[in-house]
Amino acid sequence: MFSLTSGTSARRLATAFVVIGAALWTVSAAADALRNPSVMGDEIFQPSVGQAGKDVIWVPTDDELVRVMLEAANVTPNDLVFDLGAGDGKIAIAAARDFGATSVGIEYNPDMAALAQRNVERANLTDRVRIIRGDIFEEDFSNATVVTLYLLPHLNMKLRPTLLDMRPGTRIVSNSFDMQDWRADEVIGTEFRTGYFWIVPAKVAGDWSLQGMAENDQVDLTLSQRFQEVDGTVSVNGVQQALIEPTLRGDNLSFAYIDRQGNERLVELKVAGDRMAGQMNHAGVSVAVSAARVQ
Ligand SMILES: C[S@@+](CC[C@H](N)C(=O)[O-])C[C@H]1O[C@@H](n2cnc3c(N)ncnc32)[C@H](O)[C@@H]1O
Repeated sequence: MFSLTSGTSARRLATAFVVIGAALWTVSAAADALRNPSVMGDEIFQPSVGQAGKDVIWVPTDDELVRVMLEAANVTPNDLVFDLGAGDGKIAIAAARDFGATSVGIEYNPDMAALAQRNVERANLTDRVRIIRGDIFEEDFSNATVVTLYLLPHLNMKLRPTLLDMRPGTRIVSNSFDMQDWRADEVIGTEFRTGYFWIVPAKVAGDWSLQGMAENDQVDLTLSQRFQEVDGTVSVNGVQQALIEPTLRGDNLSFAYIDRQGNERLVELKVAGDRMAGQMNHAGVSVAVSAARVQ
């Protein structure tokens, strides 16, 4: 009799889920391709949707979602966009052509990488788009300001530690797949597809001492952090209170607390490693404050 406790049955069930999941993904991917008039093959190489890739098959992101993803990431000419698993180069090309960014596509399949390179040349974007024939798990993309993904759930999870170590404020957008308990800052999408948007949070967990506070108050901050979700306490001259609405977005940290006179003070800081700097606001007056990590 079937039992969930049987290792063999559980393995078969898991395999069945993977196979069904892959089949469903391929069907919806084929639908993507039909909605996708700008699939860019040429006389030298005609890729086929669903063709094998090193870690994931090739399916192009449809044009509308490419735009929605790049808009969600607020791509500008100041950005360096990396598309990990670049396929025919369409995201890297759109980032440069439509948003003015500089971009890089990393693609493992040599035929796809060569096709993407020709597509870049046809779009006259060789000065701003680079295609690297390489493996996304080996190439360095740490200087990206925006990373785009259309991979698979377990590949997103494999990349997650690298992404979380990128410069705080780096924006990440993924077609279809999330990053489990690193919840998205925004769920985006089109009528047909869902996408996810994150901002890499600064690492702020720990103890901080604040300088420049009102009336020479000794203000100490203790922060706990789970990805972009922060919580903590502030101690004013030894009296502790919970932070009011602590928020972390990239390298921007803000919170409020109640001072000794019972006034709410809003603190807004920019994080740079073991230092923070910003201002404290109260009743329309803003004073410069800073913080240092207590080792
Ligand atoms: C689902 S497609 C997405 C293509 C493109 N980013 C887009 O959204 O239109 C994934 C691409 O990743 C490539 N790929 C798979 N494993 C890779 C790896 N380890 N390194 C680089 N590219 C890889 C595949 O060949 C395929 O072109």
